[in-house]
Amino acid sequence: MSEVLLEARELNRTYSVSRGLLARPATLCAVSGVNLTVERGGVLGLVGESGCGKSTLARLLLGLEAPTGGQVLIGGRPVSEMDRLERARKIQIIFQDPNSSLNPRKTVLSIVTLPLRVHRIGDRRERENRAAEMLELVGLPRRVLTRLPADLSGGQRQRVAIARALVMRPEIVICDEPTSALDVSVQSQILNLLQDLRHELGLTYLMISHNLAVVRHMATRVAVMYLGRIVEEGDASSLFAEPQHPYTRILLDSVLTPEPGKGLPETALGASFPDPTELPAGCRFHPRCPKAMAICSSEAPRLTSRQGGGRVECHLQD
Ligand SMILES: Nc1ncnc2c1ncn2[C@@H]1O[C@H](COP(=O)(O)OP(=O)(O)OP(=O)(O)O)[C@@H](O)[C@H]1O
Ligand code: SF4
Ligand SMILES: [Mg+2]
Repeated sequence: MSEVLLEARELNRTYSVSRGLLARPATLCAVSGVNLTVERGGVLGLVGESGCGKSTLARLLLGLEAPTGGQVLIGGRPVSEMDRLERARKIQIIFQDPNSSLNPRKTVLSIVTLPLRVHRIGDRRERENRAAEMLELVGLPRRVLTRLPADLSGGQRQRVAIARALVMRPEIVICDEPTSALDVSVQSQILNLLQDLRHELGLTYLMISHNLAVVRHMATRVAVMYLGRIVEEGDASSLFAEPQHPYTRILLDSVLTPEPGKGLPETALGASFPDPTELPAGCRFHPRCPKAMAICSSEAPRLTSRQGGGRVECHLQD
């Protein structure tokens, strides 16, 4: 029987954003009513355009930010009830850009052992040994320990970031666009490393990407996010073979720009990504949906079971 390791229940996160000196602040819904489960050992791919709420969802899952509604559970326990050490041993993150996530003035040894020092784990020698073990695990020689990030290539730096994420031996790793800042030639090496580590260490991943090729390579399940909501979710093979939400179909047909922040080419969808402080009524996707019907602009679609397993939120299903 598979075990649910990570679970989001009705997660919401809103921000109050200023609209200038005289205007009242607006409410921005970054994450709305998100339900997700990730099974132990599984890889959930989370895809969607820039600004749809992927990184916000990641921060909520990590317990770095409190949700405005709903709950995150790891191994059945609310993350909000865990202390920092317990959380650090359960869940870690690898960010997109190792250039900005690694302190340029610290040696690799200092970077990789930082979580151990923060949590007062081991003495100096034990920490150094653990760092060397981690480097070996990610395919870097021990001598790299004394180097600064500037002495390393982009791919090596991302390996250091992976070593740092794994030093606490977490059960779950969130990879937020782990390869999009890297040269194409090293992207697949990093993905293969993540895949090997998953098998070797029995890790569970949430792979965030707007690049469906990355997700196709790794994911066992896929969730598609649009304007803060999960609009379709299912088994990776079924979702890629038979996407049922119009947005998923468009995402699959699009040639995405490799850089995050650029989103989809406008030609694929006509109107550009809407303002998240002014959510469209009814189905949030209706202003851009090629299949929109009259009901779509007034009534929000309900979540229904998806043919082939999973869920989809679209009136076409009714
Ligand atoms: N701290 C914050 N304060 C105000 N708005 C925020 C904050 N963090 C995120 N947002 C807004 O929430 C929405 C979702 O942002 P988020 O960074 O989660 O998107 P994303 O899917 O990760 O995008 P990308 O693919 O570009 O990384 C955006 O409209 C963003 O501007
Ligand atoms: S509910 Fe309507 S607008 Fe929304 S995705 Fe389905 S068809 Fe398109
Ligand atoms: Mg992001």
